[in-house]
Amino acid sequence: MRTALGTVAVLWGGVALYPIYRYLAPRPDTSDDETQVTSVEVCKLSELPKNSGKNFRFGSFPALLIHTEDDGLHAFKAVCTHLGCTVQYRGDIQRIFCACHGGQYDPTTGKNIAGPPPKPLDSLKVAVVNDQVVVSRA
Ligand code: FES
Repeated sequence: MRTALGTVAVLWGGVALYPIYRYLAPRPDTSDDETQVTSVEVCKLSELPKNSGKNFRFGSFPALLIHTEDDGLHAFKAVCTHLGCTVQYRGDIQRIFCACHGGQYDPTTGKNIAGPPPKPLDSLKVAVVNDQVVVSRA
């Protein structure tokens, strides 16, 4: 009798906990959109003044293109490494900023420099072709 009750309890626990496990477990990234997109034409360079940024979609994820004060162009996956909020460039502090918990990143390297983010942003490649800014996978 005890064995039967124990078995039922284990099965019931498994049935009850499996949906919670599925919800919390990381999923493999199998999005066709993300695997197929290799580059995006974001804008004309003349449309992106120095010390400004532009958020855009790179397939299934948000991305960020930055034109720094020193005329550099940098692009990153715009997903905060803390809890996944979308980050933006703030010209007033010249940093990439996450409004969720105040995380900050260096706009030239994507390195996490303030707040809770535990690691740098993933970087993307930037090229300018006939005044068109093209961002592609690094
Ligand atoms: S999600 Fe960006 S700082 Fe928390």
